Amino acid sequence: MTAQVNVVNHSLIQHKLTLMRRADTSTAKFRQLLREVGMLLAYEVTRDLPLKYEEINTPLAPMMAPMLASDKKMVIVSILRAGQGLLDGILELIPSARVGHIGLYRDPATHVAIEYYCKLPQDLDQRDILVVDPMLATGNSSIAAVDRIKEANPMSMKFLCLLAAPEGIKNFHEHHPDVAIYTAAIDDKLDAHGYIIPGLGDAGDRLYGTK
Ligand code: URA
Repeated sequence: MTAQVNVVNHSLIQHKLTLMRRADTSTAKFRQLLREVGMLLAYEVTRDLPLKYEEINTPLAPMMAPMLASDKKMVIVSILRAGQGLLDGILELIPSARVGHIGLYRDPATHVAIEYYCKLPQDLDQRDILVVDPMLATGNSSIAAVDRIKEANPMSMKFLCLLAAPEGIKNFHEHHPDVAIYTAAIDDKLDAHGYIIPGLGDAGDRLYGTK
């Protein structure tokens, strides 16, 4: 299976991402931008959702019109805590989506992902899943989240982030070649602490003003 990485290089997304990267961007602005970019990325990720045709009546005529084919609502799984910033924008575009949460923290020494919380909707085997986390850095937490979701045998899964490091993409696809990655940009590398360079810093801290 060929692992897929989709870089969404839409000009508006790129512009907003640059504003987010700037060290002097405020917490309020960062939060607003992440919400907006989440919405724009969701537009791209959902581009190929299957459609079915239903007969409807416009005020002037009947017609066969396209609707999303799946009977079951899509599931967005947010990796806590920074995933929440992307989730907010996605839910504005797909308000009926179901939402799951997986809490993982990175052991600062080993960078291994440790799960502390997991709450997922029922019937994942009949649903399409979108896993969201702004930063695909080492890939360890995304891999752990996808491992966990795969236990429920979902119909399909995609992974959406804002920024990815080459090391994270490689690691993720070694474990999950069947899960396509969508990202706004691929940066240069990771530093010794597992941060993306040039990146934007700690997405959770910037989103919640905790530093
Ligand atoms: N998580 C972040 O928030 N930022 C990084 O650069 C890497 C992981």
